Amino acid sequence: METNLLVQPFDRVGADAIAIVLFEDEPAPAELQSATAWLDELRSSGEFTGKPAEIAVAHLPQGLAAKRLVVAGGGKRDKFDAAALRRAVGSTVRTLKQKGVKKLAWWLGAGSPADAEAAVEGAILGNYETDRYKPSSEAKPLDSFVVAAVRGGADLEAAVTRARIIGEAQNFTRDLANEPANRLTPTILADRARAMAAEQGLECEVLDQDRMRQLGMGSLLGVAQGSAEPPALIIVRYRPAKEPATKDHLGLVGKGVTFDTGGISIKPAEGMEKMKYDMCGGAAVLGAMRAIAQLKPAIPVTALVPAVENMPGSKAQRPGDIVTSLSGKTVEVLNTDAEGRLILNDALTYSQRLGCTHLVDAATLTGAIVVALGYVNVGAFTNNDALLGRVLGAAKQEGEKMWHMPLDEDYKELLKSPFADLANIGGRWGGAISAAWFLREFVDDTPWVHLDIAGTAWLEENKPFMAKGPTGVCVRTFVNLAMNW
Ligand code: BES
Ligand code: ZN
Ligand code: ZN
Repeated sequence: METNLLVQPFDRVGADAIAIVLFEDEPAPAELQSATAWLDELRSSGEFTGKPAEIAVAHLPQGLAAKRLVVAGGGKRDKFDAAALRRAVGSTVRTLKQKGVKKLAWWLGAGSPADAEAAVEGAILGNYETDRYKPSSEAKPLDSFVVAAVRGGADLEAAVTRARIIGEAQNFTRDLANEPANRLTPTILADRARAMAAEQGLECEVLDQDRMRQLGMGSLLGVAQGSAEPPALIIVRYRPAKEPATKDHLGLVGKGVTFDTGGISIKPAEGMEKMKYDMCGGAAVLGAMRAIAQLKPAIPVTALVPAVENMPGSKAQRPGDIVTSLSGKTVEVLNTDAEGRLILNDALTYSQRLGCTHLVDAATLTGAIVVALGYVNVGAFTNNDALLGRVLGAAKQEGEKMWHMPLDEDYKELLKSPFADLANIGGRWGGAISAAWFLREFVDDTPWVHLDIAGTAWLEENKPFMAKGPTGVCVRTFVNLAMNW
């Protein structure tokens, strides 16, 4: 889809539809003067009250160049922030594309660059469908999305460009996440990362099984050994052109389990197909790198994606096996389904060897985080409140909900093993926290934030503003974090 900024008065904007926000608690704006009768009727009939995701369409509106006039509910004016605007645009796009609209204009009016950015992102995200392998799909995407403003300017143009880069990066992540495991093995994920890096001018290095064996990544390799598909540790690097002012080096680490059967501790059949999404963390860091390559933050950023398939079989690791991680710490594998932490620990250790000074990981790590926070918030854990503050600040700006979870010393004892330095599970209660503690054991004092995205990486149902399936959560937060460092 093409996205553009257009400077034109409301009534002159030519498109299949022009959309404008209407609030619950406010009269219609001046632009809609010629449509007052229609709006009065909409309100008095109760067909449109201005609530979020409400949309009403009028054909051949009097005095307008556009073929349709669309009002989109904004909710309460004082709650209408960039996140609400992103969703309002997404909902409008998703409704109108089903009605055959190809070119949609969104009335920004005198809105800010941040508003323009949110609008374009909302449109790109809302236009996305997960129908790649469904030739019979009825989805009819928009061809063109235009932000119509009362003024032009480099700041607005830049915002539209930024939004396109970020929105497309998030859809790149969703595309990767959406691939079934037969079409996205660790090797193929590495190929995709390489292709993306080459296209975007990033460095990419992939450590294969032999190299990981030489290095001593026994924890990652233990998970991989049950699968006929070889593992890969994908490393993508961005370096700023100018010598940075600080020594800071951001490391983004993403869980890349291309399919999680649970291994010998096998999962129940029901819902197992969803475990193709167990690489959403890895896909998010790769998507973020795609945008970072184009937006060029001031600090170096390195992404690491440990990619494996977690399978049972005669070569698979067994409960009770003890592996030696790259850090030297030994781990007793009590449950082979707690595999994410067993690959992330080696990647976290390696990221520090590569010089990363600040680490953020994203992982579909535990069912327990879904119990704790549902499908709404990402669970955020840290050993460093300053870094967490930056991550939560970025997330807030980007409208990605994250919630600070505890990581007290008291939880550490859950991971005690009589036979090894650590057990890989911590019992039934506080499962997301013991999983986070496990990772913490491998970052020492390096500032680190762990984002458990098991509840937020995909939608079980369509939302008005986004198709069901992978959400691409964390991409915008990661990009924002790097850009505002
Ligand atoms: N990939 C799963 C976590 C998950 C669950 C992601 C639900 C998305 C939705 C992870 O590898 C896993 O299986 N975790 C176990 C850990 C347990 C064995 C300690 C879990 O959460 O049940
Ligand atoms: Zn698992
Ligand atoms: Zn998993």
